[in-house]
Amino acid sequence: MEKGLMLPRILLLSIFTISVQSEYYSKTLPAVAQEKTTHLHFYLHDTLSGKTPTAIQIASPNSTNSKDDNPIPFGALFAIDDPLTEGPEITSKVIGNARGMYLSSSQDKFLTLVMYVDLGFSRGKFKGSSISVFSRNPITEKHREMAVVGGRGQFRMARGFIEVNTYYLNTSNGDAILEYNVTVVHP
Ligand SMILES: *[C@@H]1O[C@H](CO)[C@@H](O)[C@H](O)[C@H]1NC(C)=O
Ligand SMILES: *[C@@H]1O[C@H](CO)[C@@H](O)[C@H](O)[C@H]1NC(C)=O
Ligand SMILES: *[C@@H]1O[C@H](CO)[C@@H](O)[C@H](O)[C@H]1NC(C)=O
Repeated sequence: MEKGLMLPRILLLSIFTISVQSEYYSKTLPAVAQEKTTHLHFYLHDTLSGKTPTAIQIASPNSTNSKDDNPIPFGALFAIDDPLTEGPEITSKVIGNARGMYLSSSQDKFLTLVMYVDLGFSRGKFKGSSISVFSRNPITEKHREMAVVGGRGQFRMARGFIEVNTYYLNTSNGDAILEYNVTVVHP
């Protein structure tokens, strides 16, 4: 008797399931329990000078309004494609690039950039994966911190922070080498 009732019940259940799947969502499952912490250490070369700069200004404020001859005045926007290397020398092994933009965003004398940057890796364990940075970067502080808000590939749903140290800076042309220590938590 029970058996006879089962089939219609199963049919009813599957009809219900099909109608749910046609909604804009599918299912909600518990979050992935296992998360890893990854540390990365590399250098970023931001070159404004020379014939092949890796950072170029793409928008600027009305310069006749500018109070001083700051090379990065409030409102200046730069596009970057900066190489990432294993060691501090530009000849050291390239492991990826930083692509995106930075915007000069402070009106006081403490120059602050806001970075909208994707750090992509082209070698080793994390080849093809990248880390998304969306953060202020108070560049007048030698040791500073930026937020990691996400990532791609092996860094899907990553979050964390980057400790930044100015390894080299030429104040007259703005060329810089930055040491990045990344700490990210990801599935
Ligand atoms: C730029 O600033 C000058 C001086 O204040 C002003 O005369 C001019 O209209 C401004 N130009 C724009 C496009 O805002
Ligand atoms: C980055 O980490 C290294 C050791 O892994 C350390 O020597 C260095 O001081 C750190 N730099 C920053 C900016 O945190
Ligand atoms: C810093 O930049 C200036 C202006 O471009 C240049 O003359 C000078 O050689 C640079 N310094 C170093 C150490 O590269």
